[in-house]
This record gives sequence, C-alpha cells and structure tokens, in this order.
Amino acid sequence: MKCILALLLLAGSAANAQQQRLLTSLIQRMTLDEKIGQLNLLTSDMDVTGPFMKENYKQDILSGACGAIFNAYTPQYTRMLQDMAMKTRLKIPLLFGYDVIHGHKTIFPIPLGEACTWDLPLMEKTARIAAEEASADGLHWTYSPMVDIARDPRWGRVAEGVGEDTWLGEQIARVKVRGYQGNDLAATNTILACVKHFALYGAIEAGRDYNTVDMSRRQMYQYYLPPYKAAVEAGAATAMTSFNEVDGIPATGNRWLLTELLRKEWGFKGFVVTDYTSINEMIPHGIVKNEYEAAELALKAGVDMDMQGSVYATQLKKLVTDKKIPVKLIDDAVYRVLEAKYKLGLFQDPYRYCDTQRAASVNMRPEHLQVARETAQRSVVLLKNEGQVLPLKQSVKVALIGPLGDSQRDMIGNWSAAGDYKKSVTLLQGLKEAGITVTYAQGAQVTSDAQLMGKLGLQVGDEDAMLKEALDVVRGRGADVVVMALGESQGMSGEAASRSDIGIPASQKRLLEAVLQTGKPVVLTLFNGRPLTLEWENAHVPAILVTWFGGTQAGHAIADVLLGKFNPSGKLTMTFPRNVGQIPIYYNRKNTGRPLDANNKYTSKYLDVANDPLFPFGFGLSYTTFEYGPLQLSANTMAMNGSLRASITVTNTGGYDGYETVQLYLRDVTASVNRPLQELRGFKKIFLKKGEKQEVRFEITAADLKFYDRNMRYVAEPGEFRLQAGPNSRDVQEVKFELKP
Ligand code: BGC
Repeated sequence: MKCILALLLLAGSAANAQQQRLLTSLIQRMTLDEKIGQLNLLTSDMDVTGPFMKENYKQDILSGACGAIFNAYTPQYTRMLQDMAMKTRLKIPLLFGYDVIHGHKTIFPIPLGEACTWDLPLMEKTARIAAEEASADGLHWTYSPMVDIARDPRWGRVAEGVGEDTWLGEQIARVKVRGYQGNDLAATNTILACVKHFALYGAIEAGRDYNTVDMSRRQMYQYYLPPYKAAVEAGAATAMTSFNEVDGIPATGNRWLLTELLRKEWGFKGFVVTDYTSINEMIPHGIVKNEYEAAELALKAGVDMDMQGSVYATQLKKLVTDKKIPVKLIDDAVYRVLEAKYKLGLFQDPYRYCDTQRAASVNMRPEHLQVARETAQRSVVLLKNEGQVLPLKQSVKVALIGPLGDSQRDMIGNWSAAGDYKKSVTLLQGLKEAGITVTYAQGAQVTSDAQLMGKLGLQVGDEDAMLKEALDVVRGRGADVVVMALGESQGMSGEAASRSDIGIPASQKRLLEAVLQTGKPVVLTLFNGRPLTLEWENAHVPAILVTWFGGTQAGHAIADVLLGKFNPSGKLTMTFPRNVGQIPIYYNRKNTGRPLDANNKYTSKYLDVANDPLFPFGFGLSYTTFEYGPLQLSANTMAMNGSLRASITVTNTGGYDGYETVQLYLRDVTASVNRPLQELRGFKKIFLKKGEKQEVRFEITAADLKFYDRNMRYVAEPGEFRLQAGPNSRDVQEVKFELKP
C-alpha cells in the first residue's frame, strides 16, 4: 500500500515538474502583450450578464489579446472561437467560463431552494450533472459555488446562495466544489469551480445590490469567511472577487484579502478573477483616480484575471514600462492562468470539450431530469397545512389560479444558464400529466407596477378581466380546491433585483383575497427567490408551500408534493421575517444585555411587532408528524480531548412515510467574547416509515465548540455549554454539559 502511495506521489511530482518546465518555458517565449492577453477575460455576445459589452472580442482573440471567454457555449461555437486562438502565434487555448449556477441545460432548483433539501450527496450530484452537461457543451469553468452568507432577504442574490448559516454553507461549499471538479480536472467531464463572491458580498447594507459592506474582523472570521475557506480547502481552482468593499477597500484591490488571507493564510493555489468590470469600478468606489491606478492596485492586490474591464489589457504594459510593476508579477498571474488550462488538458487538445456527439447524448438525459425532479421535490418547504388540506386526492377537481401557474420561463429561475425554458414543466402541466382535472386562470399580473413589468420584460394586461375570469373558474366549474400559484417572477430575485418590500405584490394579494372570499379551500403555492413576508397569508390561508424556482422539472415535482406522491421534507435555510422592519433577522442571534422580557419596557424589542420571525431557520413541515423523545447526553462533562454522544429518538407518529432532518445546535453560555444563543453544528436526515422510530446520534468534540476568542485564536474555552436538538431552530430541547479545562 505504502509502496503504491510512494509511486503515485513520485508520479505526481514528476508530472508537476513537467508542467512547471513546460509552462515556464512557454512564458519565457511570450511577449509582454501575449502575457497580458492571458489575463484578459471577455464576454461573447451569446449571452450578456453585465452592464457593458465589448463588440470586437473576436478581434482580440485573433490578436492574442484575450485568453479567456465567458458567456459562450455549445461545441460548435466554442470550437469556432478556439479556432481563432489556434491562429495566434503561440496557439494558447482559450478558457471558456459561464455562470452554471444551478444546472446547465437541465436546470435544478435555485441554490437557496436546493439548500433547503439539506441533502449534501444530492447537492454534489446536481453539481456533477451540471459539470457533465457544461463540459459536454464546450465549457471549462463555472462561476459557482456562490457561498455568500446573507441575512437580508431584500437582497435578490440570496436566491443564488445557500442562506444564512455559516456551518451549513461550509458543507455545501465543499460538496459543490467536489461535484464540479471531480477527482481529476483532466477528465473531460469535470470543470473548474470558482468560489464567489470573495468576500462578504452577502452583507451589503440594506440589501441593496452593490452597496457598502462594513464588518468587524471578528464577524468576518466567525460568520462570513468560513464557507469561502471551505471551498478553497476542497480545492476550488479559482476564486472571484466581489463588487463590494472589505474594510474600506474594494475586494478587487484588497491585498489583505486576496494575498494575505486567501493565498498566504489559506494556501489558495488557483487563480483569482474579478467580477464583471470590478477593477474599473474602483474608480467610482473612490479608491483610485483612473484605470492606470486601478490596474496597478488590482494586480498588486492579487487579481490574476480581469473580467470584462479591459483594464489590464490597456494599462499593464504602460505600468511595466513606467516600472510601477515588475514583470514577475505578471508572469506569476499568467502562470496560474496557464496552469488551469494545462490541468484541463487544453494544451494537449484545445478541442477536447467540443464534442458535438457528447453534447447531444449528455444534455438533458432522462437520468438528469429525474434528479432534477427529485431535487425539486425535496426543496419544497411546507409552511402550513391546517386541517390537512394537503395532500390532495387524485379525484380532486382543481382550480389553478395565479400568474405563476403556467409560466415556463419562471420555473427555471434566474441565472438559468443555457437552460431552455421551453422545456420546463409548469404546475399546470404537472397536474395535468398527473391525471388531475384542472382548470387554469392567470387571475392577475405578477405586479401592477407597469414600470416593473417593463423591467421584467412582461406584457401589461387587463387585471380586472383577469380577476373576473379567475373567479368564474373558481366558482363556476365545480372546483373542490383552489391551488394558487403566486409569488415573484424569476426576474424579481437574482442580481440587481433587490426589493424593499418582500411581500407578495399587491396585484396578487387582491386576487388571493378575492379567491379566499369564495370560501373554497385554498392551497398557496409560492414561487420565490427569497424569503417573503407572509403574515397576512399565514393568518388567512390554510395551506402554504414554498417551491422557490424549482427548475426544469418544477411542475412535476410540485404536483408530486401536492398529491402526496412525495411527502414534503424541505427545511428553510433562511429565516422568513414577519415584516421588513425585522431585517436583518437570523437564528444565530446573540442574547444582548437586555434580552426580551415582555413585562419590562427596557428590554430589546419592537413596539409594533414580535421579535421572533414568522418561520424560523430550519423550519418545514411534513404530511406526517414526528415525535422527539428526550435529548440525552452520554455524560455531562467533556474533557478537551474527549467526546460526548448526544442521542435522541425520533418516531414517525403520523400517517405517511417521510424524511425528517434532525438538527443539532450548540450554545457557549459564557465565553471571552459573546456567543450566539444557538449555532448549527450538525444534522441528520433520516427516513422513517409510519410508526417507525430511530435513534439519531451525534458525536461532539472540542472541535465543534471552537470560535474566535478575544485574541482571535480559534479555540474552545472551558465552561458551560448547551446542546439543543429538534426539528428546527425554534422547537429545540436543551441539555447542559461542561467542557473541562
Ligand atoms: C456577477 C457574477 C457573475 C458575473 C459573470 C456578475 O455580474 O456578479 O456572479 O459570475 O457577472 O456573469
């Protein structure tokens, strides 16, 4: 065994030495212009994902002034562009990147929805499928995973992330990187991952996109940085800088962030790419006067590749001539970029990802669609089911009402890459294919705000006529139940889609109210890219489920859930507030010096709303019920090098088989810096048949108790701890133990 390992290591180091020789000699042969070209990433005109487009990118490829392209895919198109690169003097292959965020052709639920599955192997599998499809379609590199922790649902980009929890974010970051990159980047079905947006983008003030971030180092290290670090440790080949500032300096020009922390402290070996024109944006940020200064700051900070800004392309040469930057700095950046191309095998065969036949046989395979359906089923979160309105019987007659009931485009959500929405399944289609008698009416527009409709690319219609038609459908044709398909359209979340009011838009509320007045039982099926404020809906509607944007198979999956073919098991990974005034709101809050006391005026609370959220982190119901036995600990003290076992028996006491996610939280009661009331430290997703029970066990060691102490050391401090377990962050049992010095 040892012998094989030694041989492998030897072979590995020989391969490394060969790579180094090859790339170093290539760099020696490159002119300064050719080197700078390798650091220039431009968008093609196939898709545009930012405010600015350079028309003559093809000219730049031909002249060797561009080393990587994004927003271009298909074997034919990438081959055509690669052909151009092969006409350059050194024939250095192009690298093709794209935002493959939740699937490439087969679209899975938006990441926030997928996170609610709490199913790590499944999340790895969807990344694997995304990589299979993207690589078959000419791509080498995805701008994913996005692991920005966010506590503000006004920010539209919470749709792209995994919610508010750091620990869960770390687990997901790891499986995503593994899913994309596999074990071997040289395999033609693996792609480079890109952890983004480095760093802290999720903490922008007031949830307004691209806004300021201001945060203590402690907060960074404890809550916001760990998921990026986890992705780096999992071997993420690239990292993307964020638009925001970090401690007063834009991330893209922040040497502490990109060099001291990322490279030196964390040992990141890949290359760093900017976000879309974020070098240029350091000018309006007010940190540099012009692009010349911007290029210098970015390169010195540790940025290797300039996305779409052409700042490196236009400024680096002069900076070298002016002796502002040594060529060595450019060589190092070029090396890292070439190394990624080398690892992908592009120097051996620049066309190895341009296989038309593979694309045709891999994309949207039935197995992929099946995984998409399963993931969408598992991402659905049941928030309420009063009187067991759900599941619906197969014989039921359904009136399906709402602007999201039959909208193919909305099903695949935002950042749906090369997803073809015409292949997505709507809820109407899903119910019909399940053999349900269903009549559909749109009932309202997504919003009556004509300006917003324009921005969303939607046609304005006659809402009174729509409402009348819907009420006719509800009243007139013997419907037993009304399934309302309401929420946001896909363009209302994602990038540049912040909202100050995160409720269901007024047009749809009017429709909901009118339908409720008919007295028919209503099931509210929500489509949304963020937590919504649902106090009114929760008070008036008997059954509510959140389906996010479920992807290509959304309609099938939601129908499966509505009809009880799949028992819902999703649990929220982001808190649903009661109103916008409670934001930022998150489960791992601190106690404060004046914790809430209803009878004491001078304690931390609002005059006009409760402190607690409407639906807490970790929350989600099932058609069955689970009973939790007492939480038990193997001992009530633990040594620094010891461990404890926590166990709890969960019984399925209801009428359906189902999944339950048992969650484990910890609290450090007294510490050198104040610690939150609870922090997720583990979970187990189990499947129980009705009547079945299972003992769920967790092992706790001092590693689970660590945090950044008063001196920013990552340690566990002796003292009292509380361990909590339950079906969500609110309904937990608590036991105490002591960590001995
Ligand atoms: C987004 C990134 C994305 C990039 C390329 C930017 O606007 O912030 O997340 O990867 O565009 O499309």
